[in-house]
Amino acid sequence: MTSSHAAERELRVEKWIAPGRVNIIGEHTDYNEGFVLPIALSLGVVCAAGPRGDGLVRLTSAQRPGEVVEAKVKDLVAQRERLPGWARYPLGVVDEFVRGGHGIVGVDLELDGAVPIGAGLSSSAALCCAVTIALRDLFAPELTDRDMVEIARAAENGFAGVPTGILDQSASILCTEGHALFLDIRAFTDRESGAAEQIPFDLHAAGLALIVADTGSPHDLADGGYAERRSQCDAAAVALELPALRDAVSEDLVRLRDPLLRCRAKHVITENARVLAVVDQLRAGAVPQGIGALLTASHRSLRDDFEVSAPALDLAVEAALDAGAHGARMVGGGFGGSVIALVDRADLVADNIVNRFATAGFTAPRVFTVEPAAGARRLD
Ligand code: GLA
Repeated sequence: MTSSHAAERELRVEKWIAPGRVNIIGEHTDYNEGFVLPIALSLGVVCAAGPRGDGLVRLTSAQRPGEVVEAKVKDLVAQRERLPGWARYPLGVVDEFVRGGHGIVGVDLELDGAVPIGAGLSSSAALCCAVTIALRDLFAPELTDRDMVEIARAAENGFAGVPTGILDQSASILCTEGHALFLDIRAFTDRESGAAEQIPFDLHAAGLALIVADTGSPHDLADGGYAERRSQCDAAAVALELPALRDAVSEDLVRLRDPLLRCRAKHVITENARVLAVVDQLRAGAVPQGIGALLTASHRSLRDDFEVSAPALDLAVEAALDAGAHGARMVGGGFGGSVIALVDRADLVADNIVNRFATAGFTAPRVFTVEPAAGARRLD
């Protein structure tokens, strides 16, 4: 490339960011067409992008120094097997745009991610959403936020091969600063208006903090436990002759003969009710402390009925509660990852979690406070 071409290309490179998320409540409800209430984190994935005219996508990542992945934009699926795992997320998004007929000739993508990987904070959704919003602005400005959620999810489910629901991508695209996003997944999927509501969530004003403890015990959605829970939920809905567990009520549980399916369904039914109770309290302007007990009940349900917790997650929750947290729960798919706690004194709770992990001989957790941040956007 001549230097004048390089200068021209440099001028056309812009940057976008898409955040990770924590879900305040509503875990394993998204693929049952239920309710969720996530916030976006200030930690995100930054994507610098610019068009190129030679039919190639060229991909780099600050987390993979020295590695350059190049692929032909046409027929990415045929090239999938030779691509490194991390590159399948962004290239899956490119493939979705190509399939959608959005006229991408070539593109440079430079990624830089600050969401911890494997912490249950949706680093992969942040990655897909950052590339999606970049490509939307560059090549398909007519696409809506909802379209972007679907593209990012399709890339992750299809090309990257990870069977997520739609919670993480919705949170990364749709969340707004200072709010939790109340999403009725069935209504959202059916493209009904009013499916998403921004609920003010100002913890600071209430003298509260939300902490995240990343336990460092890895969480991997592709390793089978997540897919197994999804098929158990589907089996429970079939046994109850309902379209989805979203339609089940507590009285239905006696009709489930299989005790395992009964437990799984019980979690989904009670979790949806807890989301609605939290939303009612927040909408009514009640003190956010009041939602603490519901968060803790969610954790117990995920631990006992849905069986997706892990010893490090349980220990972090109990340590937070012992140190005065109003409520605490695991977040995300489970089997590892992170815990959130609603607290008055972040320092005291963080210290107790760290000390209890040391006593138990667990890897030191990473504890930090979070605030509801903005969703995916272009950076100036
Ligand atoms: C993961 C999935 C989401 C959702 C959560 C559990 O984060 O990606 O779609 O199912 O687990 O609530």
